[in-house]
Amino acid sequence: MSNPTFRAYIVEEIGKNVFVRNVRSWTISDLPDGEVLVNVHYSSLNYKDALSATGNRGVTKNFPHTPGVDAAGVVEESSDDRFSIGEEVIVHGYDLGCNTSGGFGEYIRVPAQWVVKLPEGLSLRESMVYGTAGYTAACSVLKLQEFGVKPDMGEILVTGATGGVGSIAVCILAKAGYHVVASTGKTDQAEFLLNLGAKEVISREDSKDESGRPLLKGRWAGVVDAVGGEILATAIKSTKPQGVVTCCGNVASADLPVNVYPFILRGVSLVGIDSQNSPMNLRRKIWDRISSEWKLDQLEQLTTEISLEELDSNIELILQGKQKGRVLVNLAK
Ligand SMILES: NC(=O)c1ccc[n+]([C@@H]2O[C@H](COP(=O)([O-])OP(=O)(O)OC[C@H]3O[C@@H](n4cnc5c(N)ncnc54)[C@H](OP(=O)(O)O)[C@@H]3O)[C@@H](O)[C@H]2O)c1
Repeated sequence: MSNPTFRAYIVEEIGKNVFVRNVRSWTISDLPDGEVLVNVHYSSLNYKDALSATGNRGVTKNFPHTPGVDAAGVVEESSDDRFSIGEEVIVHGYDLGCNTSGGFGEYIRVPAQWVVKLPEGLSLRESMVYGTAGYTAACSVLKLQEFGVKPDMGEILVTGATGGVGSIAVCILAKAGYHVVASTGKTDQAEFLLNLGAKEVISREDSKDESGRPLLKGRWAGVVDAVGGEILATAIKSTKPQGVVTCCGNVASADLPVNVYPFILRGVSLVGIDSQNSPMNLRRKIWDRISSEWKLDQLEQLTTEISLEELDSNIELILQGKQKGRVLVNLAK
């Protein structure tokens, strides 16, 4: 390919810690080296993208930069014989959208070992309705299963339930036959969560114990947590003997104010989820499952489809915790 220009959502630092964001023209030669050039059709908005777009140095160190931690598109060039021109692929995690130009541009160029072939049974568009958040939700459910949590063992709590990870976790768990209790700060969205498959909706306030007691009545057979802080601590203290809690996020807090009693008196397991550096064999396993037994009927209900130009307002919403479901970025819109 010569050096055409393409559209990308670029974050620039115009003064110390002063950032502006614009949809602009960019060129292929601006992209980093890599074996595979992908024409991006869809990306999605994840919490981490909002951090990158607003200059969070823990996510992105150097600007100008194009965020977008995930992308689905068509191979345009490949110097690696595992991928051929015209093939549909997914890229997410690793350094994509952090310090490597990401999916909020019409092209990405990445190392071949970051690229997953789109599984049969899933379109490019559907893959990005799941995106990084959905992949992470699926990893969390897989961990519950690998640790032996079965549907007949009792209720599963999902925190931050209307968010990206939370909403897809509710759907997958319900589809897999679990009894899901959804915890949310948006109690006006109870209907949305019940339609996704939750059996009960509880408020964020009721998910937080402030008594300081080291253990609470055991209720949960499993927990998928995306928020951290007091809510995760309360969930751990309320988990039944031998129950399993997954932890992937910190939108409420990165702190975990809990003591050892749930672990040493109830045998509760706390399992960390890191989707960014998932090994390739796990990626293939999760995407295969997403495209088959965990393929959801509610994808449209979950999706708000936007253009690059509409990213700004949606980034504000996700930073305020007000986003609902998944935000799909259509590069052709
Ligand atoms: N470890 C990994 O591999 C991995 C991968 C993806 C995402 N994550 C992390 O997972 C978290 C969720 O990501 P996401 O993309 O799903 O974000 P999201 O769409 O913004 O969802 C987060 C949800 O958490 C709830 N929430 C927001 N602020 C809160 C607060 N102060 N206290 C309690 N709950 C709050 C809200 O849901 P309700 O209103 O329904 O409560 C919100 O919709 C982020 O921390 C993200 O970085 C980690």
